[in-house]
Amino acid sequence: MERKKYYITTPIYYPSDKLHIGHTYCTVATDVLARYHRLRGEDVMFLTGTDEHGQKIEDKAKEAGVSPKAFVDQIVEGPRGVLDLWKLMDISNDRFIRTTDDYHVESIQKIFRKMYEKGDIYKGTYRGKYCKPCESFWTESQLVDGKCPDCGREVQDAEEEAYFFRLSNYADRVRDLLENTDFLQPRSRVNEMVKNFIEPGLDDLCVSRTSFTWGVPVDFDPGHVVYVWVDALSNYITALGYGNEKRDGYDRYWPADAHIVGKEIVRFHSIIWPAMLMSLELPLPDHVFGHGWLLLDGGKMSKSKGNVVDPYILAEQFGVDALRFFLMRTFPFGSDGNFSNELLIQTINTDLANDLGNLVSRTTAMAGKFFGGTLPEDQRADEEKDAGLTELLKGLRGRYEESMEQFAPHKALEEVFKAIQRANKYIDENAPWVLAKNPEDHPRLARVLYNLLETTRICGVLLTPFMPGSMEKLFGQIGAPEACRTWESAAEWAKLPRTVTVEKGENLFPRVDIAQAMDELQAAVEAAKKAALPEIELEPQSEETVDFDTFCKSDFRAVKVKACEAVKKSAKLLKFTLDDGTGTDRQILSGIHKWYEPEDLVGKTLIAIVNLPPRKMMGLESNGMLISAVHTEKGEECLHLLMVDDAIPAGAKLC
Ligand code: MSP
Repeated sequence: MERKKYYITTPIYYPSDKLHIGHTYCTVATDVLARYHRLRGEDVMFLTGTDEHGQKIEDKAKEAGVSPKAFVDQIVEGPRGVLDLWKLMDISNDRFIRTTDDYHVESIQKIFRKMYEKGDIYKGTYRGKYCKPCESFWTESQLVDGKCPDCGREVQDAEEEAYFFRLSNYADRVRDLLENTDFLQPRSRVNEMVKNFIEPGLDDLCVSRTSFTWGVPVDFDPGHVVYVWVDALSNYITALGYGNEKRDGYDRYWPADAHIVGKEIVRFHSIIWPAMLMSLELPLPDHVFGHGWLLLDGGKMSKSKGNVVDPYILAEQFGVDALRFFLMRTFPFGSDGNFSNELLIQTINTDLANDLGNLVSRTTAMAGKFFGGTLPEDQRADEEKDAGLTELLKGLRGRYEESMEQFAPHKALEEVFKAIQRANKYIDENAPWVLAKNPEDHPRLARVLYNLLETTRICGVLLTPFMPGSMEKLFGQIGAPEACRTWESAAEWAKLPRTVTVEKGENLFPRVDIAQAMDELQAAVEAAKKAALPEIELEPQSEETVDFDTFCKSDFRAVKVKACEAVKKSAKLLKFTLDDGTGTDRQILSGIHKWYEPEDLVGKTLIAIVNLPPRKMMGLESNGMLISAVHTEKGEECLHLLMVDDAIPAGAKLC
């Protein structure tokens, strides 16, 4: 029988900034669904990528002083970039598309031309607002208090020649799709779309721009670049070779089974994208699922709100699987949710350390202690005592499947955790440590432990899409052979060999100390901030000139350190006794204790300016100043005393 195909996508990310935990949420969710379909034995195509064109990228690159391509390359391929993050998060995408890839550009030009030749794209005039200093076009709705959203200055009416897509032609068909099929989910999003966009009337869409150049050029009208959403949405077919020879799989995988997208881009995926496909006369995807947003204190996610939202730091601190699990367990997939570091830690401690972790470690420890790790053949079931657990487990895969098919991974997890909690209760009900005391009860004890291992195994299979790495380890610990890790096996009770051998291994999910973890997170954020600072920063050279005679008045001399000590009650000051070649010791105070220990400087030949007027510091007189070189490194001031060749005699003048 031919394997069923399943094509699933995430939005391709806009690499104008580093990704935060909100972006990661969307890709992890899609990965979980993709892995679930693979577990079922389906032929999965999972696509993700980056959406790299548009004015915002062009502007950011200009600001950074690099070309737009170099700018996006750094964010996509550079250290701790998009590719690194998906690798770290164990994202199992089959393909990765960049909209700057040449095959995609080629396809976009063909797609644009096809819609134009069909008469669905026509040339018109784009009317908007223009900010002269920023050289930017804005629509009325983008303005802030009627002014330029970038610089806050007045804007003026402007027109630019542009191409338009006849979106209005497709309004009825799109409305029918939304209202009369299960194309868009959850259902609440249908009402939003119809009420906010379809009912007020769909305007034709401006699909080309001439005011910037960072985009796919319209090949039959140079000077125009294709609107970034037309470019981006088409990635779902260009990555399969539509309109190009470099990729393949269009016939096999299109139409997509599911586009998973965040709620703010549902409009593009459920109105513009189907209309484009209708224009191209291509089949429509089966489903668009609009998930909710992760919020911070009820508002938009930003780096400055106290919580750590950097997915790298969170994954490194708590583990990739714990983070993946938390995202899927805590927030109902179609709704918004409030993210916080405390909530993350609580979820790890409650579900992973207490419930799942304890079940595994108690069960394997007891099998080790009471039976040397291998369960005996002789086992005694107790229908009455076992039914509560076994019945729950027998129906678990079905309930899990139903939730996963409805794009409700949080509900699937809830079912699994009900079973895990039931198993922990089963341990207490059957008190294996009491059974162990009486040899006659050993067959019963063996059966209790077997039932616990079976429960763990089935839950392990169903948790694999969520925590692939950890479940692999779990299977090792409970001695589950390959055949006991499959989707089919999750519906079979008593699949694990009766005389299974367990292996007590590392604690899969250690408990997190909340106070310590919060401190460590803050330290990691500080370290990351520091790492992002420029390596070396130099003070800009002075633009003010000094005339030669004035400069020559400064008397620089080589001096030798005869003695050096820290000034009492001062954290900074060192007191130098110097031989300046005059025969009389010279005393200079210098605030450099942070960089030097006094004993290390004795005997060194330094440079001092000796004709400054005397100055008092901490009640001591300083006659001159020692010369140092300074710069900033990773945000920290660095200082080096100028030390010269010891062959230079004390008092030698610098000129
Ligand atoms: N480039 C477009 C998508 C084009 S798809 C043809 C884009 N990129 S994005 O980088 O801005 O967003 C990518 C995804 O991250 C979107 O689905 C968006 O909803 C999601 N999220 C961004 N912030 C989010 C949260 N705070 N919470 C959950 N998802 C969020 O849009």
